[in-house]
Amino acid sequence: MALSPPPATTGVRVRVPAKINLALKVGAPRPDGYHPLATVYQAVSVYDEVHVAWADPDVFEVVVSGEGADQVPLDDSNLAVRAAKLLARTHAPNDSLGAHLSIKKSIPVAGGLAGGSANGAAALLACAVLWDLDVSTEGLMALAAELGSDVPFALLGGTAVGSGRGEDVAPALARGTYHWVLAFGYHGLSTPAVYRHFDELSPGAPPPEVPADLMNALRSGDPRLLGAALSNDLEPAALDIQPRLRTVLETGLEYGALGALVSGSGPTCAFLVDGESAAVDLSVSLSAEGLCRAVRRATGPVNGARVIG
Ligand code: C5P
Repeated sequence: MALSPPPATTGVRVRVPAKINLALKVGAPRPDGYHPLATVYQAVSVYDEVHVAWADPDVFEVVVSGEGADQVPLDDSNLAVRAAKLLARTHAPNDSLGAHLSIKKSIPVAGGLAGGSANGAAALLACAVLWDLDVSTEGLMALAAELGSDVPFALLGGTAVGSGRGEDVAPALARGTYHWVLAFGYHGLSTPAVYRHFDELSPGAPPPEVPADLMNALRSGDPRLLGAALSNDLEPAALDIQPRLRTVLETGLEYGALGALVSGSGPTCAFLVDGESAAVDLSVSLSAEGLCRAVRRATGPVNGARVIG
């Protein structure tokens, strides 16, 4: 009798969202060089897709298409490749697994939206399914934390509080759906460079705490309260490195955004608006100003990484 092919012979496709930080509180660097964070993440509806298929033993290859594809490394520093190798090494050390990875990008590279982390999270999930590994959600989350500070949140999605260096995530009580307009910058920002400049601007920053007004706003579901509570300790550093971002933020607020901030280490600027039609109006106005490379509408919160085929 012929054996059935494994269920995932054609491969596994995972969709994974971008994140914005509704609040990003940063302390002075720890002995390991990382900064202690108190952050609130929200997953928003800008997605990358990662497809994985079987490859010969120990072969790990990646191709990248879409938004900013030419800036994504194709060697072993690619987070999706690192994720696939880490999973194989830790959960199937004797099986000589391999994978062809294909990343379709919509999340801008070096944009402060955790696009690379999203690709790492998606590759972990996709390879676990492709190889039919016996790995728990907790096991995947632990590997995600090893890969990078934002990777666990990309698996979890929704709205969540992040602590430690950002990798320790817990779902937050949040009501409602929020409408965002995202303004993508012309040039990326290096996360380590922004953190270094933060240290220069804020020496001896106190231990970070999640802002109570933000958590109250999320529980109320009122976008006006949320707009007033958005905050990012890295914003002054990002604005110093790319002064044009200040004009982008001011312009969005002049056009009626309820709140505006640089997402993570930037340069993407996120504007909270009061519904779908306000989002259309603001994105048209911001595009017409020509201050940013591209403008996109998004809603949040959305799910974390999910298998879609
Ligand atoms: O953890 P991840 O690899 O995504 O972090 C990228 C870089 O961002 C780190 O090498 C570090 O320079 C900086 N970082 C930090 N503190 C954090 C998270 C990231 O200094 N909590």
